[in-house]
Amino acid sequence: MNKLFISPEHVLQGGYFHATLRKLQEPNTSIEPHNIMYPVFLLQDDDAMQAVSSMPNVYRYGINKLIPALTELVERGLKSILIFGIVETLPKDPTGSSADCLENPVIKALPKLKAALPDLLLACDVCLCPYTSHGHCGVLHNGVIDHAGSVKRIAEVALAYAKAGAHIVAPSDMMDNRIKAIKDALFDNKLQNQVSVLSYSCKFASSMYGPFRDTMKSSPMAGDRKCYQLPPGSSTLAARAAARDVAEGADFLMVKPGLPYLDIVRQTKDKYPNHPLFIYQVSGEYAMISRSGEGDDMETVLMETLLCMRRAGADCIITYFAPLILNIISMK
Ligand code: PBG
Ligand code: ZN
Repeated sequence: MNKLFISPEHVLQGGYFHATLRKLQEPNTSIEPHNIMYPVFLLQDDDAMQAVSSMPNVYRYGINKLIPALTELVERGLKSILIFGIVETLPKDPTGSSADCLENPVIKALPKLKAALPDLLLACDVCLCPYTSHGHCGVLHNGVIDHAGSVKRIAEVALAYAKAGAHIVAPSDMMDNRIKAIKDALFDNKLQNQVSVLSYSCKFASSMYGPFRDTMKSSPMAGDRKCYQLPPGSSTLAARAAARDVAEGADFLMVKPGLPYLDIVRQTKDKYPNHPLFIYQVSGEYAMISRSGEGDDMETVLMETLLCMRRAGADCIITYFAPLILNIISMK
């Protein structure tokens, strides 16, 4: 008598009762080492190593401590890193001169990293905020962002990292037109076929960057970043920013933060299926997931977030959990 309510074509459970069948039902969602990029904080003091209080298991390293840590991770499968420089004794000034001076920790470290770990893909975050006295991501004129001056300065910094050996430059400043300026600078120096540009194309003015800004000591002294980072509710500006950056020659796109912005990930991937898409699982997401439970419970939550990011269209996830993820996937 139940038959009236049962139609064979509406029974889906026959297609996923077995673990192998379930795998087939989740296409393009696997997590392999090349799907993960590890952000690292680099100190000026070569021998220093400091725990980050707001982010459990995250450290800031001098190059002499970073290389052994990365060597161990590369042996476990790590493929790529995103480098953030931190200055403690170099001066911060209005134009962020320490971003590309000869003593800048990133510029000094790149040749050493390349020599020690020749297969590791080296991306450098490009921004002025860790180096400016006012803490903004561009340069200011009468207290507001000087657009042309900021773009010029960002391109100079990107070129300096490219010349020092970066494989990828990743501008996170969100100034309009920086992608074209960086591409032009790479061309002018015959580096266009040796350095790629990963645009933080859809970066929102999120409240989830708090632990990162503590770590980097890079909060703005006055005001906020709402005039350059995107309003969190705006899928339309995200679409226009991605379109603009594609037109300017970005090799790779990014959505940041990750989990609350998966609609933007899907929108961007659908529009630009031929551009590899990155997600930045930011420091606030790291803090939330770290507090979500102990051991296996937390790991299960973490792996579900990564799976869902892949399902939404991400090709690579930038995450502070990279060392733990390499452990988890090597056990599968
Ligand atoms: C700075 C920058 C930020 C992050 C990456 N680069 C902070 C910000 O824009 O305010 C955030 C990373 C994180 O929270 O993990 N341009
Ligand atoms: Zn910045």
